[in-house]
Amino acid sequence: MPNTVETTSMSETIVRSVEGLRVTVAAWRRDGKTVGLVPTMGAIHVGHLSLVSEAKARCDKVIASIFVNPTQFGENEDFDAYPADEVHDVRELSDAGTDLVFCPGRDDVYPEGFSTIVSVTGVTSGLCGPFRPGHFDGVATVVAKLLLQCLPNVAVFGEKDYQQLLVIRQVARDLNIPVDIIGAPIIREADGLAMSSRNRYLSVDERALAPQLNRVLADVAAAILTKPSDCQSICRNAREELLELGFMSVDYVSVCDTDTLDLLKSYTGSARVFGAARLGTARLIDNLAIA
Ligand code: PAF
Repeated sequence: MPNTVETTSMSETIVRSVEGLRVTVAAWRRDGKTVGLVPTMGAIHVGHLSLVSEAKARCDKVIASIFVNPTQFGENEDFDAYPADEVHDVRELSDAGTDLVFCPGRDDVYPEGFSTIVSVTGVTSGLCGPFRPGHFDGVATVVAKLLLQCLPNVAVFGEKDYQQLLVIRQVARDLNIPVDIIGAPIIREADGLAMSSRNRYLSVDERALAPQLNRVLADVAAAILTKPSDCQSICRNAREELLELGFMSVDYVSVCDTDTLDLLKSYTGSARVFGAARLGTARLIDNLAIA
């Protein structure tokens, strides 16, 4: 197949077909190399590069994928506006030490007649699940495909999308995909805002307000350590505070079990506080461990 493996003027290697990917990974395997995968939708920022570092620390070779996955966007979401700059993204990933960037086209991922959906129950029932119907099915389906296409030893995902991380762990476990799913810590701007490709949608005023989400969640975590049985009222107050500060709407501020994401009324250990709120066209999410 022509043009499946593309070596650019720099040292980066872009692979666009599953066949090309498998040929390269098979050669690495013959040489006894371990492989790490960092799935992305592009719009690469420092947070993504930290995932590459995490994969490099654990594996001989690192693959990053770039695919803006249409099936994980709702009808009124930002699929058409999602930032795309392949040249910039490939260069950033390559400079960070990525050995191969897998950039499949839409038809490579979802060819004519594609009919399979990977759907996870349980950890998808709360938090973003009800607010983004179908989102986690889209994530689970595309990530299952990427894992089976690359068959990496490890795959690294950011803890900013903590619910996504647990969904993917469940997929790997339930489908017996032999991979370690690694969660990497959230990378934040100096003012506490969790790095996200969607932060670029914020206006100057919205950007100034955005770190308050992290600050309010940190206050929730501190308050819960003082009053562990008051999770519900503390979260209710936090939602009101975010609205008073100027957030347009608040989808949730919730305290959930670290492993099951069950909603907690009382904190007994091993929990995280999660928040999702809208500022202009951006929907911000964040979370942190209570400890
Ligand atoms: O976190 C993301 O960027 C996406 O949800 C992922 C994991 C690459 C799947 O499309």
